[in-house]
Amino acid sequence: MRQSIQLREPPRDVVSPPRPPVRARKLEAIKPQDDSPLHFLGEFVREPLKVGAILPSSKALSRVVVESCHIRPADTVVELGPGTGAFTGLILKRLSHRGRLLAVELNPTHADILRRRFPKCEVIQDSAEHLKRHLDGELADCIVSGLAWGSMHPRLQNQIFRAILRSLKPGGQFIAFAYVHAAWLPPARRFRQRLERHFKSVETTPIVWRNLPPAFVFRCVRG
Ligand SMILES: C[S@@+](CC[C@H](N)C(=O)[O-])C[C@H]1O[C@@H](n2cnc3c(N)ncnc32)[C@H](O)[C@@H]1O
Repeated sequence: MRQSIQLREPPRDVVSPPRPPVRARKLEAIKPQDDSPLHFLGEFVREPLKVGAILPSSKALSRVVVESCHIRPADTVVELGPGTGAFTGLILKRLSHRGRLLAVELNPTHADILRRRFPKCEVIQDSAEHLKRHLDGELADCIVSGLAWGSMHPRLQNQIFRAILRSLKPGGQFIAFAYVHAAWLPPARRFRQRLERHFKSVETTPIVWRNLPPAFVFRCVRG
């Protein structure tokens, strides 16, 4: 006797959702993590002068930068050019969820990554010279710069520098790093002269060799 097989649609709740084609699944599998240096490299290839570095700062440099900021838990801290967040997590730890961290990042890909990695940080996608308008009338206790001052156009350097001076409390700190190889180039020398003219004290750390490229850190205190 012949049996007839009836094909029926499976009930709705056991229908599995459509799967992406194999090629798309493979691409998803190789998508880098948010803290991967590949994002940074990709943005550097697109906009080398604006991004200013091939790789994010190393753990060694990040530690020296954040240790140079004498952050108290209730402080208002600003990070300019945070990139994908090499310093951000360390700063948040110092604030112990009590102070405010405002991060101003020009690159939209970096800004998105920061928002995903650090939901406690206020991330503004804008250029650092507009800092004052994002502080809502507050002044910062500490401004940490991740910007590549050595490859910056003099006019932009001027504008950002003015915004920093207008946004910092009296006695506030400004922390920035500089690459050793570029320290003698005109933009880096101009930056250093500005620091010495406008801050009560300017100190530098020893060179951090475990960073690509090696760098040192300025710690400046406003009069
Ligand atoms: C040298 S990278 C350093 C990133 C990160 N602080 C680190 O140390 O790994 C400079 C960062 O500044 C950002 N940037 C460049 N020009 C900027 C500007 N005018 N305003 C805000 N961010 C800027 C770049 O997109 C990049 O993420």
